[in-house]
Amino acid sequence: MSTTENILNEENANPLAGLDEWEEDVLRRYPEADTIVKSKSTEQFRNYDTPVRETVREFYRLNHTFQTYEFVQEKRAEFLKFDKKEMPVWDAFNFLNQLVDDSDPDTELDQFQHLLQTSEAIRADGHPDWMILAGLMHDMGKVLCLFGEPQWAVVGDTFPVGCTYSDKVVYPEYFANNPDFQNNSYQTELGIYSKNCGLRKVNMSWGHDEYIYQMMKNYLPEPGLYMLRYHSFYAWHREGAYSYLLDDHDREMLKWVKLFNPYDLYSKSATAPDWNQLKGYYEDLVGKYLPPTLKF
Ligand SMILES: [Fe+2]
Ligand SMILES: [Fe+2]
Repeated sequence: MSTTENILNEENANPLAGLDEWEEDVLRRYPEADTIVKSKSTEQFRNYDTPVRETVREFYRLNHTFQTYEFVQEKRAEFLKFDKKEMPVWDAFNFLNQLVDDSDPDTELDQFQHLLQTSEAIRADGHPDWMILAGLMHDMGKVLCLFGEPQWAVVGDTFPVGCTYSDKVVYPEYFANNPDFQNNSYQTELGIYSKNCGLRKVNMSWGHDEYIYQMMKNYLPEPGLYMLRYHSFYAWHREGAYSYLLDDHDREMLKWVKLFNPYDLYSKSATAPDWNQLKGYYEDLVGKYLPPTLKF
């Protein structure tokens, strides 16, 4: 039975009331910007006073169970052809906004507002304009949900597939359900990879990070591409895991990924930025780096 058929047998492939529930849980685990310095273990995070919502736990169970090496290859083949849709960049934001969170419809800002708050926080700190654009685009890959993909194949902390799982990935116990767990060639430290081969040679679990990276890879400078590609790889950028897969280039780029992360996690505010005032700036920015239309 293929992975896809397994998924169809799951009663509820989308346990989260909205994708934001995953991000709220990330925030619960990483309440401060400098957590890595204190190097708390994921074990300690799980002992926080606020209980994890059962929906989040179920979400990770599905994610860790079904994100196999084979599944990642299937999704790369399916989505990296970019033959599903083509639309002007600003239409793409409207498309993304069709994703509605029903967890808290009164207070939740839409997807575009999260992107704009991220990019505006980056801009306020005087960072380069390509980083502002990375902030604006970083979650565009969530449109995968609108192509019918289940939540666990779009969001969630990402992790390498084809090698052993780090216990620094949240809920490592659920990896025991993954068929790859029984495959000895995937369960050594390096698995199918070679020592310090570099993350660019490593397949990550499939989701919105890899998809937006592939969409943007011809348009942003390398540090911006790392921000997009690894922003959900918390086991690396917050926990320091998987050092044996890294090369010098990854170690050099890590500082950029870490620079980006707080803007993603901590820029949320109940007040929506005034789009009418910002529109001109962002139209120029998008026009400077991106083609008129994006392919999905
Ligand atoms: Fe994201
Ligand atoms: Fe985000």
